[in-house]
Amino acid sequence: MEVHVKQGDIAHVEADVVVVNLFEGVTSPGGATGAVDAAIGGVISKLIELGEIRGKAGELTLVHTPGQLPSPRILVAGLGKPAEFDVDAIRTLSANTIRRLRKPSIKRVATIVHGAGIAGLPAADCTQALVEGAVLGSYRFLKHKKTDDDQSSIEDLFIVEHSQGRVEEIEAAARKGAVLGEATNAQRDLANEPANHLTPTAFADYARSLAADTGLGIEVLERTDMEAKGMGCLLSVANGSNQPPKLIVLTHQGRGSNGFDLALVGKGITFDTGGISIKPSANMHAMKADMTGAASVIEATAALARLGSKVDVIAVAPCTENMPGGRATKPGDVVRGMNGVSVEVLNTDAEGRLVLADALCLARERGARKIVDVATLTGAATAALGDSCYGVMTNNDDLADRVDAAAKAAGEKTWRLPMFKDYDEYVKSDVADIKNTTSRGAGTIAGAKFLERFVADTPWAHLDIANVDISSADKGWVSKGATGYSVRTLINVATGLEG
Ligand code: BES
Ligand code: MN
Ligand code: ZN
Repeated sequence: MEVHVKQGDIAHVEADVVVVNLFEGVTSPGGATGAVDAAIGGVISKLIELGEIRGKAGELTLVHTPGQLPSPRILVAGLGKPAEFDVDAIRTLSANTIRRLRKPSIKRVATIVHGAGIAGLPAADCTQALVEGAVLGSYRFLKHKKTDDDQSSIEDLFIVEHSQGRVEEIEAAARKGAVLGEATNAQRDLANEPANHLTPTAFADYARSLAADTGLGIEVLERTDMEAKGMGCLLSVANGSNQPPKLIVLTHQGRGSNGFDLALVGKGITFDTGGISIKPSANMHAMKADMTGAASVIEATAALARLGSKVDVIAVAPCTENMPGGRATKPGDVVRGMNGVSVEVLNTDAEGRLVLADALCLARERGARKIVDVATLTGAATAALGDSCYGVMTNNDDLADRVDAAAKAAGEKTWRLPMFKDYDEYVKSDVADIKNTTSRGAGTIAGAKFLERFVADTPWAHLDIANVDISSADKGWVSKGATGYSVRTLINVATGLEG
């Protein structure tokens, strides 16, 4: 979908459909909706009077206007109650609108910027949310389908702004929204990709092509490099697989400092069978998405390059399968991380923390001044939080506040889980420095407590997205299958450090 910004009057724009809006309770529409209403002889007012259009949040009414307007259809989008309306509502509405309009006869959609009129929200924020929603709502994963009843997609989105003075600002915000939305869709493509297609090797090849496209620096550590660095935790996971592990490192030098303002570290298990502690077969296929953390940090970093962000960021993505092969790690084995910490592997299915351990050490070695890691780490995240928000665990309140604010701006919700010292006991081992599981509950926190041993005093936040990374249904900006959670949050954390 191409996004264009045009100065003009929505009532005079030629497209396959024009989108206008209505707040709940408004009986005679003003602004752009009023202008369209006047041009079609008051049909919208009449539909309001009849109770057909009420302006409720989520209400989408398609009106056919043959011969009355240059566009043959208008869509009236309900904005809900003014007091409940915000930028999130625009993103949601925009995604739902694009989904609703997906049909072969609609290629060109024209819309006004919802929220920038009587709602009085900042035009740039409204535009960014509008475009993000449209890009996210248009997402589908059709790569492996030869035929589909309806492969149609909207080709052009025209954002029509009445006042010339606002066009430049709206254009910039639309570009940003498109970059953020497309980065999220690219993460979804990676996460939806089956594990026989997206092996660690294929992932590294993809990262190389992305680096070439965006100007990011790239380095891929091979098994021999990992051995040389003493990455015994990561290697212990890779041992059970015939696929060689890859540790992908991408760098964006936005201001050319020494080291990096921020490291983004993402779990890249391209398939998680559980290893010798094998998972039940029901739903195991969902573990093809156990690399969403890695996909998020890679796409977020590419987006920062595309935005020309003035911040220095390193992405570190340890990628491997977790398989029960003949050389696989066995429960009870003891391995050692790059920082010398010894680990008793009591459950080979707690592999995410093992691959992240060495990746966190590498981020520190490369001079990261702050670290945010993202991982589908624990099934316990769902027990704790359902799918409304994801857990944030930290050793630094300021960084956690930054993550929370960044997530809020992205329309994602977060919740802090405690990191009391008491929980250190949960990962204490009888035979090594730490163990990779606990039998005392608080599985999500125990995962974070394990990771904390590998970040030393570097400000660090851990995002466990295991409860939100895939969805069973489309819902607002969230798509069925891979949702794209955390990509835009990470971008916002990084841009929040520009300066
Ligand atoms: N990848 C899983 C976590 C997961 C579960 C993600 C469900 C998405 C949906 C992770 O590697 C895992 O298996 N964690 C174990 C940890 C346990 C063995 C300590 C879990 O949650 O059961
Ligand atoms: Mn696992
Ligand atoms: Zn896993």
